[in-house]
Amino acid sequence: MAEAAIDVYENEDRTFPPSAEFVAAANAGDRSMYDEADADYEAFWARQARELLTWDTPFTQTLDWQLPYAKWFEDGKLNVSANCLDRHVEAGRGDKVAFYWEGEPGDKVVLTYSQLLTEVKKFANVLKEIGVKKGDRVAIYMPMILELPIAMLACTRIGAAHSVIFGGFSADAIADRCIDAEAKLIVTADAGYRRGSPALLKPTVDTALETGAPSVENVVVVNRCNTEPEMVEGRDHWWHELMAGASVECPAEPMEAEHLLYLLYTSGTTAKPKGIMHTTGGYLTQVAFTHKYVFDLKPDTDIYWCAADIGWVTGHSYIVYGPLTNGCTSVMYEGTPDTPGKNRLWDIIERYKVTQLYTAPTAIRMFMKWGVEEPQKHDLSSLRVLGTVGEPINPEAWMWYHEHIGGSARPIVDTWWQTETGANMITPLPGVTTTKPGSATHPIPGVFAELVDDDGNVVEEGGGYLTITKPWPSMLRGIWGDEARYFETYWSTYEGRYFAGDGAKLDKDGYLWLLGRVDDVMNVSGHRISTTEVESALVDHEAVAEAAVVGAKDELTGQAIIGYVILRGTHSASDELGSEIREHVGVKLGKIARPKTVIIVPDLPKTRSGKIMRRLLRDVADGRQLGDTTTLADPGVVAEIAERAGAGDED
Ligand code: PRX
Repeated sequence: MAEAAIDVYENEDRTFPPSAEFVAAANAGDRSMYDEADADYEAFWARQARELLTWDTPFTQTLDWQLPYAKWFEDGKLNVSANCLDRHVEAGRGDKVAFYWEGEPGDKVVLTYSQLLTEVKKFANVLKEIGVKKGDRVAIYMPMILELPIAMLACTRIGAAHSVIFGGFSADAIADRCIDAEAKLIVTADAGYRRGSPALLKPTVDTALETGAPSVENVVVVNRCNTEPEMVEGRDHWWHELMAGASVECPAEPMEAEHLLYLLYTSGTTAKPKGIMHTTGGYLTQVAFTHKYVFDLKPDTDIYWCAADIGWVTGHSYIVYGPLTNGCTSVMYEGTPDTPGKNRLWDIIERYKVTQLYTAPTAIRMFMKWGVEEPQKHDLSSLRVLGTVGEPINPEAWMWYHEHIGGSARPIVDTWWQTETGANMITPLPGVTTTKPGSATHPIPGVFAELVDDDGNVVEEGGGYLTITKPWPSMLRGIWGDEARYFETYWSTYEGRYFAGDGAKLDKDGYLWLLGRVDDVMNVSGHRISTTEVESALVDHEAVAEAAVVGAKDELTGQAIIGYVILRGTHSASDELGSEIREHVGVKLGKIARPKTVIIVPDLPKTRSGKIMRRLLRDVADGRQLGDTTTLADPGVVAEIAERAGAGDED
């Protein structure tokens, strides 16, 4: 099979069964849900949809599956914001805290379900006033402030689809996404706090709108940091001014179960990001189900914290939709984990008595580097379940999380899933599964996965490509505006199977070990970045003639972006030019896509058919100490590339 990004952990045989105490109180304490779902997975999901959600029109059909198109609960109707808010308030839980929000400078807001509902209703009316209708798309480019979930929920209330754009993305990225989605409106903020100072957002939106996105008629701006942005007359409006005049009456409109809930753009193997489509009923069912059982959520007593950014799917499903559907109290934090000190997370956990923490391996590795003294300064005994997501977790990081954050007693749930899958797919259930450090263990009840080899034969033990064999409720419904690409990307590689793009290994005990992407997608700090996208941004620089990008192994970020570039004739290599090229990618795509190292080379190794030999470039990068800088191709690299290119062909 194609080479996966990380090594296989052949010798990991430590096991961690759930404690008897945990099992006794667990939402799922035995295997009965697996048995139920194995017997009839459609009936299983129908039961979850009925039990976890409130339907305006109950569904009678569970699944219509015409590969690659799934329709779940199709004749049912429901409203997402009503499931997240109204029903909890109507049941007398309006005073329950929805979010303990904490800004980076230390400002705090406590928002109850009733208060959140009022804000959502008001903003839904603002959307209507401004001309947003059911079926329209609304782009949201915001920091981690409460107005972000409010804007999302307001969209769901009136049936507009949101398209959240991560706050670190560039003007070009905003313009591309707004053009593709034909967004009518952008909701943004002047800025958000990052590492002690405002990181500006509104000027980036202005630049995006200068270059394109003619569909955008209005921009609503939250005043978070008082940075006094320029406001374009007639186009730009202050959030607080619009909200001041908004009515608090806004009934939730029942939506068809298959109504488009949101688009979320993610990188694929080409330069153009894909607008992943998620719909209403199936998505909400699986996020609510997984949030309840994977995190063993007890809504009456838990204080849950997903420390991701809402700009990614993790934040959509596990900061906004899962937790609110289940009526739980969450912590939401605006800033970075090292501001004002490297104990910020642990301090928040101690103060709010957080019971579940959901974070990423890259963050855990960073905490390891910062040292155990930071968490040891704090009482973390409130924690009950620890989650991880976004990339393979190495056993060392798993063990550190287990010992130093979990006091060697809390279950860890390593959750494998994707923007496309909408919700957790492969993960332990904390009251059921015996875990192994570094393994995401097994698919959840109602999800079915198999590994296949290059020819599509099922692999019972050993390495293979991860495929999903049956439709699941929160699966993507397509790629916005590109049906052909939807089929081709996910359903054409292996007949009848969803191809995830990941390599994995099944061990002798039937445990799954995810090994990373097998396509031209990199995973940097849990963020998906396409090699092709970065290559396009590199060659967009006037000095660059040709570029090849690879993800090299990186101790902290999992993979690091390494760009090999050939300069155009008139340019000569220098550190300054290399830095300028790196920065250019940052401006084109956003800082997260900026290569760690740009290596200026006289030539790129190619196969006889002209394909760049990326594996060779990755090997070269893996074998070197790479700094956060430009590396001029020293004769050693060039010789190595040349020598290795001569040694074998790769097609
Ligand atoms: O390679 C897998 C990796 O992240 C990819 C999905 O990225 P994205 O759509 O951005 O969603 C990330 C958050 C759900 C997958 O194809 N990945 C995600 N979770 C894990 C993982 N790899 C290994 N173990 C995980 N737990």
